[in-house]
Amino acid sequence: MNKDHIRLAFLLLVLLLPLIRSQVCQRFCGDIQLRYPFGGGPGCGDPRFTKYISCNDRMLTFTTHTGSYPVTNIDYTNKIIYVSDPSMSTCFCTQPSKGFSLDWDAPFTFQDGTVFALLDCSLDSSPIYKGAINGNTSDVPQCDNAGTTLCSSLYSCQPISQLNVPISTCCVYAPVDLGPAFQMDLQKLQCKAYTAVYSFESQETNPEAWKFGAALKYKFNVNNDYPIYCSNCEKSNGVCAYSGTYNNFVCNCPSGVNTTTDCYFQNTWSSGVIFSPLFKGSWLLISAALLVFWISF
Ligand SMILES: *[C@@H]1O[C@H](CO)[C@@H](O)[C@H](O)[C@H]1NC(C)=O
Ligand SMILES: *[C@@H]1O[C@H](CO)[C@@H](O)[C@H](O)[C@H]1NC(C)=O
Repeated sequence: MNKDHIRLAFLLLVLLLPLIRSQVCQRFCGDIQLRYPFGGGPGCGDPRFTKYISCNDRMLTFTTHTGSYPVTNIDYTNKIIYVSDPSMSTCFCTQPSKGFSLDWDAPFTFQDGTVFALLDCSLDSSPIYKGAINGNTSDVPQCDNAGTTLCSSLYSCQPISQLNVPISTCCVYAPVDLGPAFQMDLQKLQCKAYTAVYSFESQETNPEAWKFGAALKYKFNVNNDYPIYCSNCEKSNGVCAYSGTYNNFVCNCPSGVNTTTDCYFQNTWSSGVIFSPLFKGSWLLISAALLVFWISF
């Protein structure tokens, strides 16, 4: 092979690349696997989740009206996503935060094990302590009394002990009427910081081992049964997606083609399925490349 051949082969390869990588819906976002109901962006996954979960720069993000939070993991078996809040305090650092809230109409609720502790609330002005009798904060309805041991563990963390506020102001936030729209507006509550823990890793007195962040359950239908059409699509290496005015299900196949079933028999496309412009474009370019190839010999 002379240099020209190599150049041409390279050119062909470059032209073929868009064909190979034309599956629009991603199967991973960074290290996190994307499966139903999550997609990396518009048109992928379940339409009801698109607003809340998106992939930006290889980082999966959970969005509510209070902000955007990195998704650290997804447990598809138990239908839980784990999110962290960059403004949250942990055993390793404290920082000011505005709080964390879920949207009332979002398909997410807090997993029971997730515990929130408010730190550094104003004893004078926080509505949490309004009911405290003579400044005695051990009997405040919005704080869980059983949280005292948790608070003392938290106070063994150096950054938290350095907040210089009495441990009695640490409030394990547990308002009874949490409702589906969990609101933790720290400005309203007159607290400067909070921490969230989703697992104590069986070491309640060793906060350095705790898992900080929030665990959220998600729900995509009444029984949370995986839709059959979607598992068939995923089994055939497709990604569950949707398109059209009515957000109808489509299976986005590795070749870039969408089918209404799965990717096993791409020859049985429904008549509505056509080549993508990219697909057509690639063929045009390849034909052009072949022409160039042919002319040069
Ligand atoms: C397939 O579906 C995805 C997701 O809805 C969309 O972005 C893409 O344009 C569709 N491709 C074709 C060929 O229709
Ligand atoms: C604070 O209130 C709790 C519960 O009502 C009570 O047991 C405790 O003695 C009180 N502490 C002080 C310092 O008054």
